[in-house]
Amino acid sequence: MFPSLAVVPLLPGVPVPAAVLEGRHDGGQRQVTSFPGEITIMRRPKTLIAMSADVARRLITPPVRERLTAITDVDPDLVVCDFAGADLAETEVLYTSWGCPPVTAEVLAGAPRLSAIVHAAGSVKHHVTDACWQRGIKVSSAAAANAEPVAEYTLAAILFANKRVLDIAHIYRTTMRGHDWDALYPGFGNYRRTVGVVGASRIGRRVIELLRPFELEVLVADPYLTEDLGVAHVPLDELVARSDVVSLHAPSLPETRHLMNAARLAAMRDGATLINTARGALVDQDALVAELSTGRIHAVIDVTEPEVPPPGSPLYRLPNVLLTPHIAGSLGGELARMADLSLGELARYARGLPFEHGVQADALSRSA
Ligand SMILES: NC(=O)c1ccc[n+]([C@@H]2O[C@H](COP(=O)([O-])OP(=O)(O)OC[C@H]3O[C@@H](n4cnc5c(N)ncnc54)[C@H](O)[C@@H]3O)[C@@H](O)[C@H]2O)c1
Repeated sequence: MFPSLAVVPLLPGVPVPAAVLEGRHDGGQRQVTSFPGEITIMRRPKTLIAMSADVARRLITPPVRERLTAITDVDPDLVVCDFAGADLAETEVLYTSWGCPPVTAEVLAGAPRLSAIVHAAGSVKHHVTDACWQRGIKVSSAAAANAEPVAEYTLAAILFANKRVLDIAHIYRTTMRGHDWDALYPGFGNYRRTVGVVGASRIGRRVIELLRPFELEVLVADPYLTEDLGVAHVPLDELVARSDVVSLHAPSLPETRHLMNAARLAAMRDGATLINTARGALVDQDALVAELSTGRIHAVIDVTEPEVPPPGSPLYRLPNVLLTPHIAGSLGGELARMADLSLGELARYARGLPFEHGVQADALSRSA
C-alpha cells in the first residue's frame, strides 16, 4: 500500500519556494505540490539501493545522489548486490538496477515493510519474482527511458542500411576509387523504401514515431496490437516479404524464439537488411549466418546468442554485417535518463501517487 498522506489546501497567492516544489526540503516530512491548488506532505521512505557496484558507480552520480537522498531516507554509500546478510527489516523501497539479485520469498520474509521496487533499468523479470507480485509489491521500471537509445540506434541503422553507407564505405576503403553505386545497389536510398517493425513494443512504437518525418512506408507486425499506430499492421510473413529493412523489437519469449527462422530469412528481399536490437534468441543464428554468407541480405546485429559470439563466428568478419556488443540500450550519459525517470517515480511514491511507469504482473508474459 502507498503511504497515507495529509493533503493541505494551498493558499491562493502564497508563493511556494522552488526548493519545496522540487522536493528539496529536508528533514522528515516535507511539503511539495502534487496537484494545482494543493500541497501534500511528502515522506522520505526508507530505501535500500540494490544493484551491482559497477552500475551504482555509473548511475548514482553526484546530482542523482543529491536527489535520491532528498526524496528518500537512504544511505547512498550502501549498495547491496547480494541480499544475504542485508538488513531489510525497515526497508520500504528497493531502488534497483542491473545486477540486483532476485527478491525471493526468503528475502521478502526479512523485509516486512517492503512495498515498492523502483527499477532504474528496463526489464524487471530477473529480480522481481512471483513472491513479490503475490505480496502486492508495487513495481516501476525505467524501460521507457531505456527504449529511447535503442530506438535512436535503430533509426540510425535503418537510414544507413537503406543508403548502403556501410557497404559503400567498405568498398571505398578497400578499392580507393568510385564505383557505379546505382548499378551495385539498384533503388537504394531512403525514398519510398519499406521498413518493417516487428513488435509494437515500447521500442517498436518509438521507432515508428522516429520514422514519421521520413518518406518511408512503415509496416508493423504484432499479434497483440489492437490500436491503430498510423502504419499498416500486417502479418509477420507479409512484413518480411515486403520490407527493405526488417527491425526486431519483440521480447524474448518462448513463442518468439527463432521468430526469424530459415524460411523467413530466405523470404527477405534481395539486398534487405535485418536489424536485431531485441534479443539473440529471436533469430536462428545458424540460418542467419548461412543466409548472410551468400551476400544476399545484410544485418545490423546488437544482440546475439550467445552474447559474445565465439571467436570463430563469421558474424565478426562478414562484410555485410555490422556487429555491435549490446550497446543499443542505455550507456554512458544515457544512464542519467533512466535515473531521472526512476527518481520521478520515487518522488511519486513518496507523495502517495501511483507510478507513472508501473509494471503489471499480467503483462509480463508478453513483455520484455
Ligand atoms: N539492445 C539493447 O540494449 C536493448 C535494450 C532494451 C531492450 N532491448 C530488447 O528490445 C526488445 C523490446 O523491448 P521493449 O521494452 O520495447 O519491449 P516491451 O516489453 O515493451 O514489449 C512488449 C510488447 O511486445 C509485443 N510482442 C509480444 N509478443 C510478440 C510477438 N510474438 N511478435 C511481435 N510482437 C510481440 C507486444 O506488443 C507486447 O506488448 C526486447 O527484446 C528487449 O529485450 C534491447
